[in-house]
Amino acid sequence: MTSPIKAIFGTFFHAPTPDALVVLADTLITIGHDGMIADVVPPDAPGQASAMAAFGDALVRLPAGTFAIPGFVDLHVHAPQYPQLGLALDEPLEIWLQKYTFPLEARYADLAFARERYEVLVDDLIANGTTTALYFATQDREATKLLADICIDKGQRALVGKVVMDDPAACPDYYRDAGPDQAIADTRAVIDHLRNHPDNASARVLPVVTPRFIPSCTDETLGRLGALASECGCHIQTHCSESDWAHGHVLTRLGVTDAEALDGFGLLTRHAVLAHSNFLTDTDMDRLAARGSAVAHCALSNVYFANSVFPLRHALEKHVHVGLGTDISGGPASSMFEACRTTVQSSRILQDGVDPALPASERGRANSRVDLVTAFHLATAGGGVALDLPIGILAPGYKFDLVAIDTTVRDGSIRLFDLSDPKAIFEKTIYGAARANIAAVWIDGATIISGKPG
Ligand code: GUN
Ligand code: FE
Repeated sequence: MTSPIKAIFGTFFHAPTPDALVVLADTLITIGHDGMIADVVPPDAPGQASAMAAFGDALVRLPAGTFAIPGFVDLHVHAPQYPQLGLALDEPLEIWLQKYTFPLEARYADLAFARERYEVLVDDLIANGTTTALYFATQDREATKLLADICIDKGQRALVGKVVMDDPAACPDYYRDAGPDQAIADTRAVIDHLRNHPDNASARVLPVVTPRFIPSCTDETLGRLGALASECGCHIQTHCSESDWAHGHVLTRLGVTDAEALDGFGLLTRHAVLAHSNFLTDTDMDRLAARGSAVAHCALSNVYFANSVFPLRHALEKHVHVGLGTDISGGPASSMFEACRTTVQSSRILQDGVDPALPASERGRANSRVDLVTAFHLATAGGGVALDLPIGILAPGYKFDLVAIDTTVRDGSIRLFDLSDPKAIFEKTIYGAARANIAAVWIDGATIISGKPG
């Protein structure tokens, strides 16, 4: 470990496990050259004061009323769909893709069009506290490299995939890989681009093998992508059993569930993230748990496109890795605070049920609810486990990716009044925070946004 070069003092919240909020009050966190947390020094540790003094100007003090949390990990973002956020929510998935989404994504082959929109997206996500994002880019190779370059330039931790979609039966002529050879060659080109990038020596931005979903890909391409991911040791992302239609399509075409089919193609690995996964069977969940593959739970998007609520609590009890995603633009909100809120809300709806004509005992699914701490854990530490990256927890050996939230700004939306209980402050903060409350963001030890603290 390198010796620490800077430090931050204040009160921090994190949730290393799903069921306990940890409050680090009046704590000193020291940071090394490598962007890692070197030490977490509590107030009762001998030498905290002298350690603080030694940092001089390299010590940031969070002001009264400002608290910090690990940066959010958004496990599912369609970067090119950002202009569509809050639009086009009136059709089911299979029509939405053809009518709205493919035409928009195809426009990103124009790199000037892409740059303008991708830069705004990455800026906005960082300003909202998303320090790590797992991005679907588009089918276009060069525009995918551009998104990766923008993440490198702006300092975000990101995983970026060229979207593979080569089945002529499902993808329009104007927006499709020419065939398996091109799909594989272009995916490989993006992997090489990121691995050889002179400004990405720390691999803060990683390539991802990204079959859009089984319905958009040929069997040959899916198998070859599984082999490529294994050869290159890359992350994998795709959609799995999202809606009745998507789930049924795979069952009809391949005679097995989405998860079983992905496994057969070599796409269920420890580094695979499956978006949605609403219709996983118990056997599918056991399969994901055995492989160490993760679900990106997109609670808000599921309201619009998934025909059901993901049984989150059940998946956690079956030891499936789960993190949260916004699914921009299937979910019409880009903030991970919002993803935490919707995760709690949709779990309550699943537990209680929705049809008032039914008796309460038949209306819902028992033992489904999760609380805000669990949602926050999934949005931070859970995302880190899903990606197998040392992020989302404030402890030595984890990356210093941090968001400072100022609860006092008049333009913000948190009003604590006379609250002093840290757990109550945490709840009001996660439920209430807006972009205006985010005072500072650090990623990989670097200051990306600096506001009031200091
Ligand atoms: N399934 C395949 N592509 C997509 C997409 O862009 N968004 C969502 N929500 N589901 C998908
Ligand atoms: Fe999606």
